[in-house]
Amino acid sequence: MTVHLPQRDAPDLKQLGPGPDPQPSRRGVLFWAGAALNGVAAVAIGIPVVGYLLAPFASSGRKQSWVALGHVDEFPEGHTTLGEYVNPFTTPWDGYTANTPCWVKRDAGDAFTVFAINCTHLGCPVRWFPESSLFMCPCHGGVYYADGSRAAGPPPRGLYTYETRIRKGVLEVKAGRLPTLQQTP
Ligand code: FES
Repeated sequence: MTVHLPQRDAPDLKQLGPGPDPQPSRRGVLFWAGAALNGVAAVAIGIPVVGYLLAPFASSGRKQSWVALGHVDEFPEGHTTLGEYVNPFTTPWDGYTANTPCWVKRDAGDAFTVFAINCTHLGCPVRWFPESSLFMCPCHGGVYYADGSRAAGPPPRGLYTYETRIRKGVLEVKAGRLPTLQQTP
């Protein structure tokens, strides 16, 4: 028995329309828009990260400068007194925060030790108590001896000290960056 299938005519190409649209597809537009956004995001994130990584090399040895703390006669022998200097590397919006306090210990003559005021635990400003000859931190009870070494509490080490020199009777400290373990003389 023979089965007759209906015959199909060849499609009329004229009726199928003009063919593929030469305009870019919606998928293509979205792809390139997404790629462009990813590129912008990568640059926006990458620039600060690269700047952060290169900052120590760019600023090493540059962001330090000698700053006058005052005439040596302003600091009585055998006492520890509060000193202050203006950060030599400031921006207009630093305002009052450019004023940087420190503790100046004068033993005798030109023997000075200048301590950073910041506690080595989490950076709170320490206070000098001449009655007990101790520096004390108000935040977590850190205590330091008169020579800045650690006495008690959570601080992991003694106070950081500045590099100092005396020029024409004026005590100067090397300032710009706060002293750290790497920079303490
Ligand atoms: S910040 Fe000074 S003890 Fe914690």
